[in-house]
Amino acid sequence: MKFPCRLDKFISNLAEIPRTHAKAAIKKKRVTVNGEVTRQLDKQVTEQDEIMLDGEVITYQGLRYIMLNKPEGYVCANSDDLHDTVLDLLDEPNMSELHIAGRLDIDTTGLVLISNDGQWTHQITSPKKQKYKTYLAEIAQPLEDADIEALETGVQLHGERELTLPAKVEVIAPYQIRLHIVEGKYHQVKRMLAAVGNKVVTLHRESIAGIALDDDLAPGEYRFLTEQEVTSVL
Ligand code: URA
Repeated sequence: MKFPCRLDKFISNLAEIPRTHAKAAIKKKRVTVNGEVTRQLDKQVTEQDEIMLDGEVITYQGLRYIMLNKPEGYVCANSDDLHDTVLDLLDEPNMSELHIAGRLDIDTTGLVLISNDGQWTHQITSPKKQKYKTYLAEIAQPLEDADIEALETGVQLHGERELTLPAKVEVIAPYQIRLHIVEGKYHQVKRMLAAVGNKVVTLHRESIAGIALDDDLAPGEYRFLTEQEVTSVL
């Protein structure tokens, strides 16, 4: 949310009520700004003002940065008719402000970052910023040296004109690799492995832009980022 903003918008967003209800509450003198009743819908307010609705302070949560360990079966979307979304795993106020920075497929597990700071998520998701994302993949067949070289120099994804940007491949075991990529195209890792005639069996995101998934988070759990984690991507 950007400040200063209109009083009716502040109330609607942060008390999570429709704008029409916020306007009605203001007109009915149910709202105070710094202790004074006001009926001015477009009064400019900031997060420093004390805004009360029916005697209850409406608090702005500030900028929020969350890491979640995504379990299988959840979709990275704001809402979905068929499946639970990763946002359903959060128990936080003002959910409509939060957005997902870099989506994972329904069957992919691991690190998902969620925030209400659009400039911050842009640092992570913008292709121009080229931030590394690290994936652990179980694969159907061991990689040949030529496959590793192709993945590291760039492969042609089905339906794309340009080659992928150079990636880094670590072979952990014959059927397990760690892949570091700077892009985030749709199904990118699965399509990269398909491009060298292989197949991803399971996929797990370990880190984004140097922010590593916390080992203490069980699938479905989340925590707020530390200040150091937040500033590390800037
Ligand atoms: N690449 C994929 O193929 N799937 C994901 O979920 C993330 C990266």
